[in-house]
Amino acid sequence: MRVRGPRRADNEGNRNNMANNGTYNYTVVRQFAVMTVIWGIVGMLVGVIIAAQFIWPDLTYGVPWLSFGRLRPLHTNAVIFAFGGSALFATSYYVVQRTCNVRLFSDGLAAFTFWGWQLVIVLAAITLPLGITTSKEYAELEWPIDVLITLVWVAYAVVFFGTLWKRKTSHIYVANWFFGGFILTVAILHLVNSAAVPVTFWKSYSAYAGAQDAMVQWWYGHNAVGFFLTAGFLGMMYYFVPKQAGRPIYSYRLSVVHFWALIFTYMWAGPHHLHYTALPDWTQSLGMIFSLILLAPSWGGMINGIMTLSGAWYKLREDPILKFLIVSLSFYGMSTFEGPMMSIKTVNALSHYTDWTIGHVHSGALGWVGMISIGSIYYLLPRLFGQTQMASMRLVTLHFWVATIGIVLYIAAMWIAGVTQGLMWRAVNPDGTLTYTFVESTKASMPFYYIRLLGGTLYLTGMLLMLVNMIKTIAGHKAVDAPIPAITPAHA
Ligand code: HEM
Ligand code: HEM
Repeated sequence: MRVRGPRRADNEGNRNNMANNGTYNYTVVRQFAVMTVIWGIVGMLVGVIIAAQFIWPDLTYGVPWLSFGRLRPLHTNAVIFAFGGSALFATSYYVVQRTCNVRLFSDGLAAFTFWGWQLVIVLAAITLPLGITTSKEYAELEWPIDVLITLVWVAYAVVFFGTLWKRKTSHIYVANWFFGGFILTVAILHLVNSAAVPVTFWKSYSAYAGAQDAMVQWWYGHNAVGFFLTAGFLGMMYYFVPKQAGRPIYSYRLSVVHFWALIFTYMWAGPHHLHYTALPDWTQSLGMIFSLILLAPSWGGMINGIMTLSGAWYKLREDPILKFLIVSLSFYGMSTFEGPMMSIKTVNALSHYTDWTIGHVHSGALGWVGMISIGSIYYLLPRLFGQTQMASMRLVTLHFWVATIGIVLYIAAMWIAGVTQGLMWRAVNPDGTLTYTFVESTKASMPFYYIRLLGGTLYLTGMLLMLVNMIKTIAGHKAVDAPIPAITPAHA
């Protein structure tokens, strides 16, 4: 008996292993894909609430946990790390398995990344409203949570690079280069910028001070944009656009040049967030020059994605998922044109501190990051649940239009408000006194805050449509793990 027990367990284990070795690990992809939609709704709902607070400052009855100052970082953390992060985990795990023809390196570690990341998000949702914060933008979480993030991230790197290591294909597809670059760089950014001296369990002080602190923070902040909000999403672009269009990527050579040029250039652009500050002037100019150079690789990538459709433009008319993917690239092009312009010192003198920045942020965030994630998750959901397509393609089309109109309202309102603010603040009378008081510029912005709220509400409505469609697609269907195809020399 004592022998049979373990033997049976061994046999079971072997059978499971054989089954696991024969299929891709879709469990973790499914979990992250579903949470992308849920966290998207939570984060954007908080976005809508803070947008409403611009119009009705007493909206939350003076409850401190719900004040603008606490909800704002909750919004940014929820949309970037919970919504964007879940989309990145889901797609990178899917893409690396499919393009390497192997199951993930470790199911256990992959499960740890899912539950660990969810714990990070829940801890953020508790601590930020309580006012527990390092006060470093996009790195607000206190040191115990930072330690957890580090553990999860190391596990993520092991799973991702381990899968690449045991791949059955000779080539590493370019999407994996972008995902890999994103994982490595975010690890470095997080470790360097979060270095701090803890004084209590929920309080620490940055390891840097003064101008150095600002410099490190915006080296982190801009590369968070470049790597967390861009490189990984370009990985999505390089896989899902060709897949959905049914065409090979327009130029593979360009994609490789795109990768190296982008990661090299992003690293130097951070000081454009600190124009006219105590930072040495030459660093500001360096940041500006590298930001201008950044236009080239960014547009190279955008053109590579959009031109993948050449010869198949008609598909754009009928396929709402392709619409999401291609329109996201148009917004990517717009925001990466606008960013270099805003980094020019004289332009920044007008745009900085105004809602123009907020317009720029959301043309990148809602237009690029949001639309590419939504398109990719629409591609994934049916495949993860044994379906050929989403339960309702008409709802997907409706989502596309509601979201697109929402973005246009949001960003156009912020551009007009921002330029108006910038011009009013700098206007001077012949005697040198200011033409307008600050409150006059706030009054002038009011109509645009209403329009932003409407745009944001539309975008959130689109996400709710996605939730309904997701539930309908999943309900009554079994989760399916695709078999790993036998590899032939032609594939290798
Ligand atoms: C329904 C959708 C959304 C609404 C209504 C919304 C609204 C807002 C509002 C009102 C602010 C504060 C602006 C200020 O302080 O002047 C904000 C900031 C921000 N949001 Fe959103 N947001 C939405 C979606 C998103 C998404 C999807 C992302 C990212 C993927 C995002 C990223 C950010 C960032 C990074 C900031 C900080 C910008 C800065 O400091 O310059 N938002 N959002
Ligand atoms: C070539 C690419 C880009 C360049 C050169 C660039 C440049 C800039 C500049 C100059 C600012 C204003 C800094 C200030 O006055 O404070 C800014 C702000 C910002 N940009 Fe971009 N941008 C680019 C692309 C993007 C994309 C694609 C996204 C989003 C996905 C994005 C997200 C942001 C965010 C979140 C901020 C606000 C940071 C803050 O103050 O909290 N940028 N960017």
